[in-house]
Amino acid sequence: MAKVKTTFFCQNCGSQFAKWQGQCTSCKEWNTIAEEVIQKPEKSNWKTQSQAGTRISKPLKINEIDTSQEARLDLQDNEFNRVLGGGMVNGSLTLLGGEPGIGKSTLLLQIALNINYKTLYVSGEESQRQIKMRAERVNPSSESCYILTETKTQNIFKQIESLKPEIVIIDSIQTLHSDFIESSAGSISQIKECTTELIKFAKETATPVLLIGHITKDGHIAGPKILEHMVDTVLQFEGDRNHVFRVLRANKNRFGSTNELGIYEMQGSGLREVSNPSEILISEKDGELSGNAVAATLEGLRPLMIEVQALVSTAVYGTPQRSATGFNAKRLNMILAILEKRAGFRLGAKDVFLNITGGITVDDPAIDLAVVAAILSSNEDMALPSDFCFAAEVGLSGEIRPVQRVEQRILEAEKLGFSTIFISKYSKISIKNTLIVVQKVSKIEDIIHHLT
Ligand code: TYD
Ligand code: MG
Repeated sequence: MAKVKTTFFCQNCGSQFAKWQGQCTSCKEWNTIAEEVIQKPEKSNWKTQSQAGTRISKPLKINEIDTSQEARLDLQDNEFNRVLGGGMVNGSLTLLGGEPGIGKSTLLLQIALNINYKTLYVSGEESQRQIKMRAERVNPSSESCYILTETKTQNIFKQIESLKPEIVIIDSIQTLHSDFIESSAGSISQIKECTTELIKFAKETATPVLLIGHITKDGHIAGPKILEHMVDTVLQFEGDRNHVFRVLRANKNRFGSTNELGIYEMQGSGLREVSNPSEILISEKDGELSGNAVAATLEGLRPLMIEVQALVSTAVYGTPQRSATGFNAKRLNMILAILEKRAGFRLGAKDVFLNITGGITVDDPAIDLAVVAAILSSNEDMALPSDFCFAAEVGLSGEIRPVQRVEQRILEAEKLGFSTIFISKYSKISIKNTLIVVQKVSKIEDIIHHLT
């Protein structure tokens, strides 16, 4: 037996220290350093328990490297495939993070049940019967999905060796533990070790592995930051628990772009792919209401029409409240300051609430103009025509700035039956003969003139 060796790890950032200290010198967090036993055996290979002998990789000429194994597996889920960059690459490790209860297990179980590849779904969180009950709600008939409830990596690899699955799903990485490390499951050194073993397994056998990861209260994947560096792809599953929409996005992707987005709707029978999100993100209503404006945004390469709602009311307390859901609060303050300075609005004594419908978060700056329009509409208590939409960024001096791919936004708005789209005067467009009126504005004053 090797000598027991201990090291101190910061539980927040994963930095390693020789002795205990109160504050982590790397991430500056207090009381996050804990002692963990690391017991390094001679061979910490994923196969050492079941088979002696390690494989040694040799240098190869780049032209001689066989890329046929890089073929992608079709996951029978268009949204997931697109976010991954066109399917799952063989031998890749994908980490899916998200808040508890958002639907991570449901999403991956659903994929496991729908694909035609032999899949092993390893759960350390639920019993086989619980998983079966969930599976019955989603897709009761699957011939190629195997469920294993196990948390010890060595046992998992033993099962993998006899079953030879084509895809492995682990729910979740925080529940796994390896015999080579003594500290408890979910600790930094366990997560690191288990991930390393899984990476070796995935790369050597060209089997793709999907991992579920818990997140901490501030939204980061629990465990060391290094976990995100180790895997090939980091996906984030997000959405408002109280809303039915869920958004899947890639934070890191070694095999594709990170600006694709997948949208799902949570139903009683699992997650449904939403192939035309614009239609459902615009709420149905009778008549026109003040404070609503539609933005022609772009998420990844997909146009997405999103409704922005604003409520401007007289402040009850001395300091007016500003609150934004699905939109950056700092940016809201900036837009309010611009309206105050450039358009003479006295919003200083008003509470302003902003909400993006559907519980999704938008980063596209093209939403700015719709935010301005919604605030103006609520402030004046004057409804905007419901077939108006907006796509432009607002600059600090009140100028309306062009946004990328404006033609794609115009075509999407036209397709959905909007009559007018407001864009920047400086946007370059070459499409002609559109049914939709393209209204070009250059300053915030222009938009006020058009709308009032
Ligand atoms: P789950 O996948 O367990 O979340 P996570 O693994 O991210 O913690 O999702 C649980 C929620 O999803 C649960 O609150 C119920 C809901 N749900 C449905 O609405 N419909 C369904 O068909 C299933 C399986 C779950
Ligand atoms: Mg779960």
